[in-house]
Amino acid sequence: MKVLVVGGGGREHALAWKLSQSERIQQVYVAPGNGGTARDKHLLNVPITDISALRQWVIDNRIELTVVGPEAPLAAGIVDDFRAHGLRIFGPTRAAAQLESSKAFSKSFMQRHRIPTAQFETFTDAALAHAYVDLKGAPIVVKADGLAAGKGVVVAMSLQEAHEAIDFMLLDNTLGVAHNAGGARVVIEEFLQGEEASFIVLCDGKNVVALATSQDHKRLQDGDQGPNTGGMGAYSPAPVVTAEVHARAMREVILPTIRGMEKDGIEYTGFLYAGLMIDPQGQLKTLEFNCRMGDPETQPIMMRLKTDLVEVMLAATSGGLHQVELEWDRRVAMGVVLAAAGYPMNPRKGDAISGLPADQSDAMVFHAGTAEQATQTMTSGGRVLCVTVLADSVRQAQQKAYEVTQAIHFDGMQYRRDIGFRAIKQSA
Ligand code: AMP
Ligand code: GLY
Repeated sequence: MKVLVVGGGGREHALAWKLSQSERIQQVYVAPGNGGTARDKHLLNVPITDISALRQWVIDNRIELTVVGPEAPLAAGIVDDFRAHGLRIFGPTRAAAQLESSKAFSKSFMQRHRIPTAQFETFTDAALAHAYVDLKGAPIVVKADGLAAGKGVVVAMSLQEAHEAIDFMLLDNTLGVAHNAGGARVVIEEFLQGEEASFIVLCDGKNVVALATSQDHKRLQDGDQGPNTGGMGAYSPAPVVTAEVHARAMREVILPTIRGMEKDGIEYTGFLYAGLMIDPQGQLKTLEFNCRMGDPETQPIMMRLKTDLVEVMLAATSGGLHQVELEWDRRVAMGVVLAAAGYPMNPRKGDAISGLPADQSDAMVFHAGTAEQATQTMTSGGRVLCVTVLADSVRQAQQKAYEVTQAIHFDGMQYRRDIGFRAIKQSA
């Protein structure tokens, strides 16, 4: 089979790497891919990002399956377009992707279907938003409505921060948020406390299969300090998701979401990612939905997946997920993101990367913001690499991930030194 992965980040490198291990694979293509997928002799990059041009390329090259990584092409309707041409593609339609592409949509969806989430109000008018924040007090959370590459959320510990966030989201748009119809909107919501986990499932429209649990590290710096990012590191499994929390997440969040979408006339197919906040009693609230896999959660999750991903994707695109049982490596997987100087606000590009190790089955460096120039790999984006390892315990995984990291260098490289700290505390 010939398979295409759409996207060019670490998530797509990991998906393509895993797909390419299937015996059914003749060739895995990645569009547009990155420096890591260019280096991998099992993968081929396709320099196309425009949806209709990509669909034509898929038809011309007889690609039998397309798997979509990022949210932007999903929100732009790539699944609708490919299906309209009879092509097999895994992902949600544009309507279903609104669960991620509009915070206002997903919050009112959750309210309507009684899916647990933080209390909130939605605003287009800055004066009303300011008044609401004054009424509620800090801490409080301000979220831009449209897609913002993981940077559209401000957890304001003071009123001043909340007021500033309202102004730059509603008035200035310095974040470059992709606004939905009706222009700039913000959701302002109650501040929640607890531990976060990423709960990701596959849906074929009817059946749901949960992936291994994982946890991300959203803040830039150690100890969860600094600005929110797309994610600085992740590991799987997440000990906070006990069997009981897992059952609750399925019962209270995932199944009501799939059913709720169906009731609203929108069939959900694709990956569905619920960001959960879990309190010490094991009660959970939904922080957000993503209509795709997490990045960097995908990297550790794919390292642990033993089942043939091509078979899984074929079942998921033909209503056959009830026949799928996923098998996981019992070891812990951990990924540490190496980011560029200036990330997340103003990442620098064009630094030469050295010391990249050879691929190993228990230690992989997945690429994200890299580009291959002649024989040299260069940085070309905010999150550059994700060093991902498998080991028998979280502590050993952490040690091994940082050992691999020591060998890698590029100017301005920044990374957290404490990936996995919660799991280590819980296992102590
Ligand atoms: P989101 O994109 O909505 O998941 O928000 C990004 C990050 O902001 C989350 O992963 C949380 O760390 C934090 N966050 C979002 N909403 C809340 C909330 N209501 N209370 C506390 N932290 C939040
Ligand atoms: N790592 C968080 C996300 O992919 O949204």
